[in-house]
Amino acid sequence: MTAAAYCIVPANDEYRAWVNTLIREEWGGPMIVSKGKLTDTSECPAFVAVSGDEPLGAVTYCIDSGECEVTSLNSLFSGKGIGSALLRAVRDEAEKAGCRRLWLITTNDNTNAIRFYQRLGMTLYAVHLNALEQSRKLKPSIPMTGTDGIPILHEFEFELLI
Ligand SMILES: CC(C)(COP(=O)(O)OP(=O)(O)OC[C@H]1O[C@@H](n2cnc3c(N)ncnc32)[C@H](O)[C@@H]1OP(=O)(O)O)[C@@H](O)C(=O)NCCC(=O)NCCS
Repeated sequence: MTAAAYCIVPANDEYRAWVNTLIREEWGGPMIVSKGKLTDTSECPAFVAVSGDEPLGAVTYCIDSGECEVTSLNSLFSGKGIGSALLRAVRDEAEKAGCRRLWLITTNDNTNAIRFYQRLGMTLYAVHLNALEQSRKLKPSIPMTGTDGIPILHEFEFELLI
């Protein structure tokens, strides 16, 4: 697959079902927790990367009070520009909506995402120490360990000013 072989589209009903399944498989259900708050990603607007009819990745987001939170991001084919393209689509949508800031939460174990967001120009805005204690009260299924066996303890908040 080449970078030109897919496009980014808003999720229609058909892709929406695929996005919901992807999030259930990757994140253990539609609910995600960020900064002590539960969000139902199935209620969030989404973009999908598609090649022909085949979905390759998805992003969900939530616009509120002049800010845009990326509530989930998944690419099925790493290193093809899909994750970057999905994030750019949300950034453009946030700009159209008059948002001043795009932000997201990742956890301390997700070193791949931490590198990815910084290389895309996002700034580490805050580290919410031991935030996962509270998150697990809202979503007990969050595992104790993540990538490379790293204990999942803290939230890293990245932002991009628009
Ligand atoms: C994080 C994630 C979304 C990145 O998606 P991706 O599709 O691999 O992202 P991209 O392809 O745009 O960028 C990944 C890398 O490929 C490079 N790249 C982008 N386009 C490329 C191309 N056409 N050819 C070669 N490399 C390319 C990027 O520079 C980037 O390099 P880096 O990781 O060293 O910074 C993906 O790894 C993922 O789904 N991870 C699991 C879920 C997750 O952790 N989500 C984030 C939760 S907060």
